[in-house]
Amino acid sequence: MSTNIEGKVIVITGASSGLGEAAARALSADGATVVLGARRFERVQTLANELIAGGRRALACKTDVTDHKQVKKLVDMAVESFGRIDVMLNNAGLMPHSPLERLKIDDRDRTIDVNIKGVLYGIAAALPHMKEQKSGHIINVSSVAGHKVTPAGAVYAATKHAVRALSEGLRVEVKPYNIRTTVISPGAVATELPDSITEPDISLGIHKFYDSYAIPANAFARAVAFAISQPDDVDVNEILFRPTRQEL
Ligand SMILES: NC(=O)c1ccc[n+]([C@@H]2O[C@H](COP(=O)([O-])OP(=O)(O)OC[C@H]3O[C@@H](n4cnc5c(N)ncnc54)[C@H](OP(=O)(O)O)[C@@H]3O)[C@@H](O)[C@H]2O)c1
Repeated sequence: MSTNIEGKVIVITGASSGLGEAAARALSADGATVVLGARRFERVQTLANELIAGGRRALACKTDVTDHKQVKKLVDMAVESFGRIDVMLNNAGLMPHSPLERLKIDDRDRTIDVNIKGVLYGIAAALPHMKEQKSGHIINVSSVAGHKVTPAGAVYAATKHAVRALSEGLRVEVKPYNIRTTVISPGAVATELPDSITEPDISLGIHKFYDSYAIPANAFARAVAFAISQPDDVDVNEILFRPTRQEL
């Protein structure tokens, strides 16, 4: 039975760990061709090699999403190698929580550059191809923090609210081109994300929270697969999920 995933060319940013890696593995197992971007090239290359050894099609490209030229290169490489791009999964992100009064300017700049500009660069790289194809699917990763703001999480939450606003703006603009748009907002999922926190006390608290509540990354992969696998005339625009035990 066709899953509407098999044969699709899917570009994933932040595919070197966590949610991106889990999505790459699951979508590849469902028969997709995956094109993997991240700054840690050896990780995405190793993953691509593993998938190829298992009989799948995969490609890796060193990509820093804060550089729009590198994101364009990732997407163009997918189209040159496999003839098209069916799905752009804008997943790369970081979460260096800290209270505003601690003035962690560098952390904030990086968060905005990766979580907002990175998504915009992904959209910019994929849209021209999808417009020409008159088909495609852009999936952006927000968060429960795109719905709720917590102490020490204001900047991260601001970027994830922005991702939801951008996704809705994109949705209403791309109707003429037959492009689907989905924003996925996960709760706590066990990944390397808490390691991006640079303030020791905040890091300790968030790690404790994740150790108690986080669910496996495959929960995200299943949400991505659900959105992609719908018939072409069904556009799943929003998915919000949490660990069952997570109250926040
Ligand atoms: N885990 C959760 O609980 C959770 C909940 C809600 C939302 N999210 C969102 O899910 C997404 C993935 O995070 P994760 O949980 O899987 O964390 P993760 O394990 O830390 O993965 C983050 C990924 O983003 C990539 N990345 C970071 N900066 C980058 C840059 N400048 N250019 C390219 N790639 C970059 C990393 O790759 P390199 O370091 O190799 O570049 C890595 O592959 C993020 O957008 C995050 O905000 C996660």
